[in-house]
Amino acid sequence: MDNIVSLAKRRGFLFQSSGIYGGLANSWDYGPLGTLLKNNIKNEWIKFFVTSRDDIVLLDSSILQSSKVWEASGHVDHFHDPLIDCLKCKKRFRADQILEEKLNIKAEGLKNEDMDKLIFENNIKCEVCGGSFTKVRNFNMMFKTTLGSLEDNGETVFLRPETAQGIFINFDNILKSSRVKIPFGVAQIGKVFRNEITAGNFIFRTLEFEQLEIEYFINPRDADKYFDELLKYTEKWYSHIGIHKKNLKYVELDENQRAHYSKKTIDIYFNFPFGFKELESFANRGDYDLTKHSQASGKNLNYNDQEKRESFIPFVIEPSIGLDRLILALLVNGYREEEVNGRKRIFLKLSHRLSPYQIGIFPLLKDGKIDKMALDLYNLLKFKYRVVYDDAGSIGKRYRRQDEIGTPKCITFDVQTLDDNMVTVRDRDTTEQERIKIADIDSYLDSCFI
Ligand code: GAP
Repeated sequence: MDNIVSLAKRRGFLFQSSGIYGGLANSWDYGPLGTLLKNNIKNEWIKFFVTSRDDIVLLDSSILQSSKVWEASGHVDHFHDPLIDCLKCKKRFRADQILEEKLNIKAEGLKNEDMDKLIFENNIKCEVCGGSFTKVRNFNMMFKTTLGSLEDNGETVFLRPETAQGIFINFDNILKSSRVKIPFGVAQIGKVFRNEITAGNFIFRTLEFEQLEIEYFINPRDADKYFDELLKYTEKWYSHIGIHKKNLKYVELDENQRAHYSKKTIDIYFNFPFGFKELESFANRGDYDLTKHSQASGKNLNYNDQEKRESFIPFVIEPSIGLDRLILALLVNGYREEEVNGRKRIFLKLSHRLSPYQIGIFPLLKDGKIDKMALDLYNLLKFKYRVVYDDAGSIGKRYRRQDEIGTPKCITFDVQTLDDNMVTVRDRDTTEQERIKIADIDSYLDSCFI
């Protein structure tokens, strides 16, 4: 993990947030390369789940919504973590996390009384000072803020803790404006906020993060069919972005481990350096959300199937990925160290679909001829691919820079290029080099980046 964090900071993927003021715990800023990587993932996700299909549309709803949304959805009453305090040193912990660490069980979702019992029976004490714990109590994770200019009588609103509710409250708008027919999905990417009791492990658990979510609306009787279909498609997504099958685990949750709204949940775990942990939650939310919003708002949120002459509140299948966790997973999945001629080589095996840059272009000499040819190619290719031009330092250093940020192909212009109009193309993963005619470069790259 230390190697990944060091690479991410060194190469400008991620920076500690508010670093010049000593940092804000569990908050991270994306640097130039991290931002490129993040946007490439978002674009690829939209291509894979939205524009290459006919049945999923996009939405971008607001972060601040009426507090009635969170009352109806159950977040005001149910969206909490089980909190315990050490009676001696006053440090706060999540009871389920402590139980998972100490007893190696899946404790998320257990009742507070059951966690109290397990802590007592197993004589679990504070890992900092050995003190005893308070009883487990609920800590609501939504951040609150106040609307309006007067703090005292302003309206309390919440920063959204999931993007999903923005989709449910727009269900009727989308039905009326988009001519969608069941089965159909609504996809959304956006920032969410959770006041986590214990965060950490770099960008694995943060207070502010982004989600990639889809709510796929279906006829209740087809729930199992579409759950399985969308899960299979999700498996393809992970292979499409280069995540190894062996790094993923699909774990079905018991009834007492599932969120209150869920009829069935499969957590998709990734093999992080600190163990297999949740990367995506994949749930059948039933008709819970639309029913609750319909009851609370008084608006009819039924779907009327004209052909089958049926009217029902749809069930919904929800794949929900944490984008920041996916970025950490991709860094872990792609990180490689090997020894070449007695020297350590670090490279990042990122899919060309996601890597910040796809091509590096290096002129070996700045003689007004070789660098001009290199710049000409750069200026041509940059409108089609993500290209970086680098004319500083030794060729070895330039390769190392691009290897570490995951650039799959590097093109070098040397003295011989002046004679034969050919360049050397080096592959990031194998370090193999081949000479290609400049005239053929575009079609060569096309064949690499399919
Ligand atoms: N709408 C469903 C939902 O929000 P969730 O399991 O609470 O479900 C979905 O969250 C995903 O969001 C998780 O699988 C995880 O990848 C990510 N996530 C949750 N809490 C997070 C946090 N504090 N920091 C980073 N990512 C988080």
